[in-house]
Amino acid sequence: MCYTARMNLQGKRILLGVTGGVAAYKAAELARELQRAGAHVQVVMTEAATRFVGPVTFQALTGEPVFTDQWDVRIANNMAHIELSRTADAILVAPATADFLAKAAHGLADDLLATMCLARECPLLVAPAMNRQMWLHPATQRNVARLAADGVAILGPESGEQACGETGMGRMLEPAGLVDELADFLAPKPLAGRRVLLTAGPTYEPIDPVRGITNLSSGKMGFAIARACRAAGAQVTLVAGPTALATPRGVTRIDVRTAQQMHDAVMAALDAPPRTDAFVAVAAVADWRVASPSERKLKKSSSHDVPKLEFVQNPDILATVARRADAPWCVGFAAESEDLEANGQAKRIAKGVPLLVANIGHETFGRDENELLLIDEHGSRRLPRADKAQLAQALVAEIAQRLPRP
Ligand code: CTP
Repeated sequence: MCYTARMNLQGKRILLGVTGGVAAYKAAELARELQRAGAHVQVVMTEAATRFVGPVTFQALTGEPVFTDQWDVRIANNMAHIELSRTADAILVAPATADFLAKAAHGLADDLLATMCLARECPLLVAPAMNRQMWLHPATQRNVARLAADGVAILGPESGEQACGETGMGRMLEPAGLVDELADFLAPKPLAGRRVLLTAGPTYEPIDPVRGITNLSSGKMGFAIARACRAAGAQVTLVAGPTALATPRGVTRIDVRTAQQMHDAVMAALDAPPRTDAFVAVAAVADWRVASPSERKLKKSSSHDVPKLEFVQNPDILATVARRADAPWCVGFAAESEDLEANGQAKRIAKGVPLLVANIGHETFGRDENELLLIDEHGSRRLPRADKAQLAQALVAEIAQRLPRP
């Protein structure tokens, strides 16, 4: 799914610091992607970085002069470190070598990039990239912890194949992932200090050990909302039914299979401190489960009898949460095939929730796009067709506006 919350980068001035690691070649793609997202990119390289990629590459890509030297005479008063960092909305150092992290952690200022990081007023984000032994070294871990404690955002690294031929932790996040991270970082934070609990995806009700009943929910909408809540500054817990989607960074995920397990996980999360401010029920929960699933695989009998399944009702998670004495502010979702507004309003009232979000049209399951109708006590409002990530951001802005003050 294309993450269109990249619109947060539109018009932003990003100072891209490139240090001397093999991953420096990926910084060229990163500069390009940042520009595509509408950012203005200014590159500063360390001397070591120029051994891996030439400054001309970045100059050609960004259309801006590239600086490597503290004593560059192109900038007035020889104050490149002040001039360049003063106008930036953020400094992103990618790749950030172990050496750079050590310097930044200790406040050294022996080259232009390190000096700028020390002299900055804007946020600093670093994307570590190094051999796994260097990453795991206690000195590096100490430096990273120090930087995080100083308010520096650490993006990655991830695990994978390394340039040295080894496999392990230390690979720089891919350029697209870094752009998304930066976009999230720069997003408005109307949910700062709030805790949000969500359900997403389908549920799976077993018939026997190898068969079960599920539905076509992909979890994409719920995961996109979880991610947008996190980008808006919330502490997010996501209770997910079976789906192969990647967990959005910074989101606590609890995997479940059945509706009953989803119910139990939601109640446990609500009982655990701190208090949950908002509950967003996006999951397509099975209304019924097989009364007694077989412990053994059902066999075809020779008499051609078909098995008879008996069902019992599952708990209604949303309605149960909304009825709790300590109920958070609740948002429900609805899949309706007809009379969207009337049925949606009736469902909102029946579940006892202030906001119900109805999917407009069928076949939204699994797609990357959607169209939503927001239904509350005053009536309804349409969020026009858009990418699910974009809709999620719009919905989270609505939630933040409506959420009662603590
Ligand atoms: N929901 C829930 N627990 C259930 C069933 C639904 O939490 N056992 C939540 C869904 O996550 C969604 C909302 O209730 O937010 C509405 O789900 P939907 O399937 O549209 O409605 P149902 O209550 O199941 O009613 P019906 O299927 O009859 O329309």
